[in-house]
Amino acid sequence: RDDRIARIASAIRVIPDFPKPGIMFQDITTLLLDPKAFKDTIDLFVERYKGKDISVVAGIEARGFIFGPPIALAIGAKFVPMRKPKKLPGEVISEEYSLEYGTDKMEMHVGAVQAGERALIIDDLIATGGTLCAAIRLLERVGVHVVECACVIELADLKGRERLGDRPLFVLVSST
Ligand code: PRP
Ligand code: MG
Repeated sequence: RDDRIARIASAIRVIPDFPKPGIMFQDITTLLLDPKAFKDTIDLFVERYKGKDISVVAGIEARGFIFGPPIALAIGAKFVPMRKPKKLPGEVISEEYSLEYGTDKMEMHVGAVQAGERALIIDDLIATGGTLCAAIRLLERVGVHVVECACVIELADLKGRERLGDRPLFVLVSST
């Protein structure tokens, strides 16, 4: 296993009982404080996706906005923000997804992507997979091919991976 992974894993801080009792919060802000670990994180994704003919990196608000843009720049793809509702000023398409309590919406600008493009979806973490599924639906609705979803961290016990169907998921750190 790549020894960069161990450094990345140890740079992620786990904060118990945040935002509520029983939740072990995976805090990537400490990874961002370690320039080598942050660079290794971006490099590992770039090494995987360079030359894969990806034209779109779709980053999910909020923490997908940290990891997505440097990957997009390095592989020569455009960056498309997948945003919380009512943030994007132009015409949008939206998808609802379920949270632990209630639902939320994800929005993407119409015209940001074209049918036939090849996309990589980036977020910091997959838990239940509901967030990534909403991003997949938005892109597939307009005829974009989702090549892969990529996250820094997977909470493997929650089996979010199974909800992605046949779209591959790549993660650097799997946590239980
Ligand atoms: C967290 C995390 C992922 C999502 C994963 O985001 O950053 O985006 O949850 O959960 P899921 O796999 O169960 O859908 P959150 O919704 O807390 O918002 P934020 O990134 O804007 O802080
Ligand atoms: Mg998020």
